[in-house]
Amino acid sequence: MKPNDLPLARPAVPPDTPAARNAPAASAATDAAWRELHTAASAPYRGVGRFAWHFARGKLGRDPVFRGLLERGDLGRGARVVDLGCGQGLMASLLQACADLAAAGRWPHAWPAPPAAEAYHGIELMPRDCERARAATATLALAPTFECIDMRQAVLPPCELVVILDSLHYIDHAAQQALLTRVRDALLQGRPERPRRLVLRIGDAAAKRGFAASQWVDRAVTLVRGHRVPPTWGRPLAAWVALLGELGFTVHSVPMSQGTPFANVLLVADVVGVA
Ligand SMILES: C[S@@+](CC[C@H](N)C(=O)[O-])C[C@H]1O[C@@H](n2cnc3c(N)ncnc32)[C@H](O)[C@@H]1O
Repeated sequence: MKPNDLPLARPAVPPDTPAARNAPAASAATDAAWRELHTAASAPYRGVGRFAWHFARGKLGRDPVFRGLLERGDLGRGARVVDLGCGQGLMASLLQACADLAAAGRWPHAWPAPPAAEAYHGIELMPRDCERARAATATLALAPTFECIDMRQAVLPPCELVVILDSLHYIDHAAQQALLTRVRDALLQGRPERPRRLVLRIGDAAAKRGFAASQWVDRAVTLVRGHRVPPTWGRPLAAWVALLGELGFTVHSVPMSQGTPFANVLLVADVVGVA
């Protein structure tokens, strides 16, 4: 499937998921649901190789962003999802695990409605990550597609949710602005009866120690994954928020560093209007 062919399907779902609502307190039920999601979303990587499997389990288990997105309902509902710098496609696997948990009637009542993504398209520069993503997710009902291309050149299809987790700092400031402009335009072509949202995690360059820690780990992980360490371009949180505001996004920021030495912030940015 080409990215422009992401299907439009099923009746409209009310946009009942405001951006960045507070997460409910964890409970035994939500902890159990998350454990089940973690296991299910990691499982497809088991047959792909030791690295893919351990990376999936470790990243999904230790990075607070994945559970937080579900607890707050940040992923909206019924979206066509485009994931930029998607790595080995963990988000696609997590979305499938969410759909399966909901279908089994075990989605926790305390959480907002499950994301029920309609389609997923991942864009990733590194061929090895794309291969792992495709191999792991080939049989998922969500039928995710992956395109091995530089996100600066990728055509962004009409969609309701764009996810960019820890990827935007790999391209320079001018390219970041150009890409975010195209992200906004792709979202404006999405269905206006749903939230049309960018979920972007960045490092706050103003928080010097935490930002340096993120960069150090980022470089180490890049090396472990067998890639050369590229230069990176950060901005202070206020500059990210200002840039998104100039592009027409309404931005909510969610601190994303609890329990970590990093300065990560999740920006949940909605657009309104038409293309
Ligand atoms: C830190 S990883 C995050 C992966 C994924 N978003 C996640 O949270 O698991 C950053 C990813 O962005 C990818 N990337 C970097 N520059 C890119 C570019 N210009 N176009 C597409 N992907 C890129 C890297 O190859 C890497 O897989």
